[in-house]
Amino acid sequence: MRIGIGNDHTAVQMKLDIKEYLESKGYEVNNYGTDSTDRFDYPIAGERVAQAVVRGEVDRGIAICGTGVGIGLAANKVHGIRCVTCSEPYSAKLSKQHNNTNMLSFGSRVVGLELAKMIVDEWLNAEFEGGRHQRRIDMIASIEDGTYKENK
Ligand code: RB5
Repeated sequence: MRIGIGNDHTAVQMKLDIKEYLESKGYEVNNYGTDSTDRFDYPIAGERVAQAVVRGEVDRGIAICGTGVGIGLAANKVHGIRCVTCSEPYSAKLSKQHNNTNMLSFGSRVVGLELAKMIVDEWLNAEFEGGRHQRRIDMIASIEDGTYKENK
């Protein structure tokens, strides 16, 4: 599995540590973030990873900023991206099983490295369950496309 990873200036070390961790497990990891602690606006990295996911350059994306929120919001503005921002493994796992998230974001100022690894592991090891969940994801996509109509 190929993973795209991106970060702002607050998350350089976390990004490097997660990248190394994933590579040690055999994942191919593309770096779309900054390697410098100079100020780097999080939407740049979020958008880069998201575009790599929708282009099919990578299978999944991971985005890290101070809270995970800004970079996740930016990623979710890219058509076709479903990015979950979370700081615990349960939501990460369920977001794949039920929402088929294709990106994960978290905060370098929120979670420590070991918790971040656990979140990443749960998310990467989970599988989308399909079925009724697909219908709901299709509804989200139609909101994105502007074709959504509420079924009453
Ligand atoms: C940068 O100071 C900070 O705003 C950013 O890393 C992130 O937390 C935004 O959501």
